[in-house]
Amino acid sequence: MYKILVTRNIPGNYIEKIENMEIEVFSGNGNMRDWLLSNIGSADGILITLNEKIDKELIDHGKKLKVISTYSVGYDHIDVEYAKSKGIIVTNTPEVLTDATADLIFGLMIAAARNIVSGNDLIHKNDWKAGWNPTFMLGSEIHGKTLGIIGMGRIGKAIARRASGFDMKIIYYSRHRHDVDADFASIDELLQQSDFVIIALDLNADTFHFMDYQKISKMKKTAFLINGTRGKIVNEKDLVRALNEKIIEGAALDVFEDEPVDNTNPILSFSNVVVTPHLGSATYETRDKMAETAVTNLVNVLNGKDPLYKL
Ligand code: GLV
Ligand code: GLV
Repeated sequence: MYKILVTRNIPGNYIEKIENMEIEVFSGNGNMRDWLLSNIGSADGILITLNEKIDKELIDHGKKLKVISTYSVGYDHIDVEYAKSKGIIVTNTPEVLTDATADLIFGLMIAAARNIVSGNDLIHKNDWKAGWNPTFMLGSEIHGKTLGIIGMGRIGKAIARRASGFDMKIIYYSRHRHDVDADFASIDELLQQSDFVIIALDLNADTFHFMDYQKISKMKKTAFLINGTRGKIVNEKDLVRALNEKIIEGAALDVFEDEPVDNTNPILSFSNVVVTPHLGSATYETRDKMAETAVTNLVNVLNGKDPLYKL
């Protein structure tokens, strides 16, 4: 009978419905990595999240391992090439989270531009004293503005669909041209022309610290930078420097170089930066679909069938 390790509880009852396989879920006591290291040797499949770093050491311990199913679209936490070289199939959950992630990123952009979070904080702190006032808390418009999307994968396309409903001019930069309602731009043109720059890239060796001081410096002084894919695509120290120097108007981030963020992170000292704790796919509907997809991927591989998605 095949054995499966599951690192975290996932929504729905998809795990309970798996038939004829032995399932062990991490209890939450002790160190996750130690648990994986000591149990992966007897596992045929593992169902993990983006918190678990699956590197060469773990893969080498997985003598019987046939499938690594990650409950995420991102796979920067897995040494995919090494796993593949050992004949292990790696699967992920794209598509089902694209729209939820694009919704959140779009919301972050509006929140940053229109003072939604600072306005909320102001009322909660009982600081709304003067009532309605013609010059109070003015923000930037969204409609009619230029949106620059860096990366035109599924999430980039979903952001572009939303932006066209908001009457934005959409430009994009990507390694490849795409058949989308947006104009291709060089990275410099995009940075120089956009009122909002949204990062919609995967994290990999080529995109690590893609947004550095030099690139941020090319943005308009009135522009906002929004990142909802992976924190390490932005050099956070450089972003802090640019914010200190008021090189851009503000930023909105759902992802960070080091998660979870605590109050030692200097990014939290800026009132013009809206932050959320990696919530891109965090809706009831999407997290349920991700669970179904990740379990189907895993079970299909072990049953000799094609997974829904594989890397
Ligand atoms: C979330 O960040 C994911 O990769 O699914
Ligand atoms: C994620 O789904 C992407 O391909 O952008």
